[in-house]
Amino acid sequence: MGKSILFVQQKGGAGKTMLLTQLAVERAQKGAAVTLIDLDAQRSTTAWFGERGQRAGAVSGIELIESADWRASSDIREAARKSDWVFIDAPGSADDLGKGAMRAADFALIPCQPAMADVWASKATLEMAAGQKLPHAVVFNRVPPRGRAAEAAMQSLSETGAKMLKPRIGQRAAFADAFMMGAGVTETARASKAADEIRALAKALTRAA
Ligand SMILES: Nc1ncnc2c1ncn2[C@@H]1O[C@H](COP(=O)(O)OP(=O)(O)OP(=O)(O)O)[C@@H](O)[C@H]1O
Ligand SMILES: [Mg+2]
Repeated sequence: MGKSILFVQQKGGAGKTMLLTQLAVERAQKGAAVTLIDLDAQRSTTAWFGERGQRAGAVSGIELIESADWRASSDIREAARKSDWVFIDAPGSADDLGKGAMRAADFALIPCQPAMADVWASKATLEMAAGQKLPHAVVFNRVPPRGRAAEAAMQSLSETGAKMLKPRIGQRAAFADAFMMGAGVTETARASKAADEIRALAKALTRAA
């Protein structure tokens, strides 16, 4: 049985799709079989996967299921039987996320931007995961190189006792570039800070999930 990770955050634009695609490539490069389950009607993961299909030399081992709420739990369980990792892209709005995906997943990864509004919005997502007894952790994404407001926002979330993964993901052009090409930074910019961050996040996720 593989591990299924739900990428969820009520606040839009936190980086669910970005981190999911980047981690998928990193895991596949390490030889894992990865299934992506797109539950978001925006279908951004599906679009990335489509781009990837046209990329010469893209590492194999990643599959995609375009799913929907009513069959999310059976899709997740079936994928977990066949893959090492199942990464689920939750809808942007939590109202569209049924309980099925929460119940079927093993762990929730909650991306959060280091800004107060995002930290406040994360509390609802954290409560939702806790309410479903779904193990979870926050990862800070789009962290600027410096900035007191960002540090204060991250500090404020840590004071609530929320579980947080140690690696932080910076705001970096390499991520947007790789995403646009249907790639991962660990393919397009192997020796970059962006790639180091994704490898560190993959390790932390493997330990936590
Ligand atoms: N670490 C990063 N560095 C630079 N750009 C980033 C980073 N993470 C995300 N982005 C960009 O921020 C935007 C939002 O990211 P993404 O689409 O992954 O968020 P999301 O949580 O999936 O949003 P939605 O709720 O709309 O599904 C995208 O344009 C993406 O390219
Ligand atoms: Mg998305």
